[in-house]
Amino acid sequence: MNGILNVRDITREREEEEQRSRFISVISHELQTPIAIIKGYASTLARSDAMLDPEALRSRLIAVEEEADRLNKLVGNLLYASRIQAGGLQMEIVPLELPRLIEGVVRRLQAKSPDVSVTLDLPPNLPTVMADRDRVEEVLQNLLDNAVKYSPRQRSLTLACSVTGDEVIVSVSDVGMGISLRDQEHIFNRFHRASNGMIQSMPGAGLGLYICRAIVEAHGGHIWVESTLHEGSTFSFSLPRVEKAHLPMVVF
Ligand SMILES: Nc1ncnc2c1ncn2[C@@H]1O[C@H](COP(=O)(O)OP(=O)(O)O)[C@@H](O)[C@H]1O
Ligand SMILES: [Mg+2]
Repeated sequence: MNGILNVRDITREREEEEQRSRFISVISHELQTPIAIIKGYASTLARSDAMLDPEALRSRLIAVEEEADRLNKLVGNLLYASRIQAGGLQMEIVPLELPRLIEGVVRRLQAKSPDVSVTLDLPPNLPTVMADRDRVEEVLQNLLDNAVKYSPRQRSLTLACSVTGDEVIVSVSDVGMGISLRDQEHIFNRFHRASNGMIQSMPGAGLGLYICRAIVEAHGGHIWVESTLHEGSTFSFSLPRVEKAHLPMVVF
């Protein structure tokens, strides 16, 4: 008995140690990169001999703004993740019409990235689900952001819904970089990013899918991925249908 406990303790300790070192390396990279860019541009702009035409000036200021947004998002996600860990995520569960929410999120995505084409595959009379509107939006937003970010060449996505006996399933598919089977096992864990050099060089702290999983599971649903490396990925999550849900108003 003692022997089993010891092996488990060691495995847990090792996992915690790995997570700590992943945390430090991801966070330091995610902090250092935008700070270096902001500092570099700010010092160029502050030089008395900087003779930039308005277009060059504008592009540098936009870069500074984007990097500040990146830092802001990182801090937001870190706070979100620590709230999840502390069990303090409050939810406001209401009957929710998914098509309106989906169309709103897609409209915003297309305003931000007009070169991305999105195909919507929503069946008529989709049942109402019981969910927290802002949190479901957060999940969709994260999945769409990933689908765009990890599809550098073929920027076409499909957002589909289907219905089972108890649930509505929402799927986001891309024809991007795909994820190896080995990475698929870990990507919903905090700070895990695929061990591929190209992905490591893209911005991200590996918190988005962890947050998505916590939100979906708090609704009594599931989230999963099907993917083939170099071909694309489909991320799906389920939410309980209104007549089947037995949810308290505040979860966690
Ligand atoms: N649509 C996708 N295509 C390929 N890889 C993906 C996709 N979505 C997520 N991943 C992989 O899962 C990892 C974790 O995703 P996420 O938690 O959103 O963190 P981040 O995007 O900040 O790296 C990513 O680093 C990437 O390796
Ligand atoms: Mg992400």
